Amino acid sequence: MTAVIEVQGVSKHFRLHHERHQSLKERLIHPGGGTFTEFRALQEVSFTVNSSETVGVLGRNGSGKSTLLKCICGVLQPTSGQILVRGTLAGLLELGAGFQPELSGRDNIYLSGSMLGLSRRSIDRLFDSIVDFSELDGFIDTQVKFYSSGMYVRLGFAVAVNVDPDVLVVDEVLAVGDERFQSKCMDRIREFQKEGRTIMLVSHNADQVRSLCDRAIVLDHGVLLADGPSGESVKIFREALLGESRMDDLPGEHEELVSIDAVSTATGRFDARTGAPWACEIAVTSQEAFEGYLVLELHTHVGTLVTRSDPTSAPIALNKGHQRIGVNLPELPLLDGSYELSIGLLSQFGHGVVAWREQVATIEVTYDGRASGIVPIEPKVTVY
Ligand SMILES: Nc1ncnc2c1ncn2[C@@H]1O[C@H](COP(=O)(O)OP(=O)(O)OP(=O)(O)O)[C@@H](O)[C@H]1O
Ligand SMILES: [Mg+2]
Repeated sequence: MTAVIEVQGVSKHFRLHHERHQSLKERLIHPGGGTFTEFRALQEVSFTVNSSETVGVLGRNGSGKSTLLKCICGVLQPTSGQILVRGTLAGLLELGAGFQPELSGRDNIYLSGSMLGLSRRSIDRLFDSIVDFSELDGFIDTQVKFYSSGMYVRLGFAVAVNVDPDVLVVDEVLAVGDERFQSKCMDRIREFQKEGRTIMLVSHNADQVRSLCDRAIVLDHGVLLADGPSGESVKIFREALLGESRMDDLPGEHEELVSIDAVSTATGRFDARTGAPWACEIAVTSQEAFEGYLVLELHTHVGTLVTRSDPTSAPIALNKGHQRIGVNLPELPLLDGSYELSIGLLSQFGHGVVAWREQVATIEVTYDGRASGIVPIEPKVTVY
């Protein structure tokens, strides 16, 4: 295995200036201008990405994901530490990064291409396939400042995947495009995987990371919280999201206190009707008496979180041994479609995931009415 990206002890600090609300005293102490505090967006982050690996980057808003990607792409200089990239790298960074707003789409293609080290002649050769992929033919001579965010992403992604990079780095921007373009991008990313290219991908969508990535890293307040197989990293990411991140209690290190063994229904099928009651049964095994909470999640088939239940509304107390937990939803508020069910058990104070089963079942909902989408709304109208 060859290391393609090596991130060694990287920190990135930003200066946050406080020019306003300055007292007279502060102005006397700092006559040159405002005061500042240093914000540590990345702290001593180290990891390696090997050739042909797809690595996901998870973390909540502001955890440093985009900053990390910008450092890897060379758009930002780390405050300390080193980053080595072997081979050519194309990146699709945060919206707008990398394009000159005053220039047309055409000129930006040439500009990005030359920044990636391509000659004018090679860009000439790639130009049509870039425009083709971006589906922006009618707008290619328009200044990109007039592009919508979706158009920006199309152009950025089209450039990134057509310049034949060894490494592709993609920030979350893909979520901006419409569903059809997103799935076209996903297909292209899968092709890249088959061709053995190396990919780093930021995503808030844990399911997408599980299905696409071999490995994932988790950032939390600029600190690398986890680096491991996607499933494990997703679990740690969820723990961080749900409150406490228990660094001393990584999965696999000791036996689980409670395990979720199976989920079943009375009929054996996971079908449901909009507005009708729905029930299931969860078989669990507990190593000792346990008090905590149950949490349910439903995702659409493209991985959008439809709902995460409030754990405190479902407290549970288990005895040692095998047990069953009955779950009832008096009125299923979903329109027709397939929904992925995930189930978790949280410890007593609602912190810390004790057991988690991702996508244990697919619920097929049927609906006879005329509404469409995920949830029905029933507007009451008055004309006056
Ligand atoms: N140029 C900058 N100057 C000052 N602070 C910055 C700058 N860029 C980023 N930050 C701060 O660094 C932190 C990390 O930002 P970053 O954009 O990397 O987060 P992120 O994980 O990508 O978040 P999101 O999920 O919202 O995209 C944030 O608190 C942000 O405010
Ligand atoms: Mg970001």
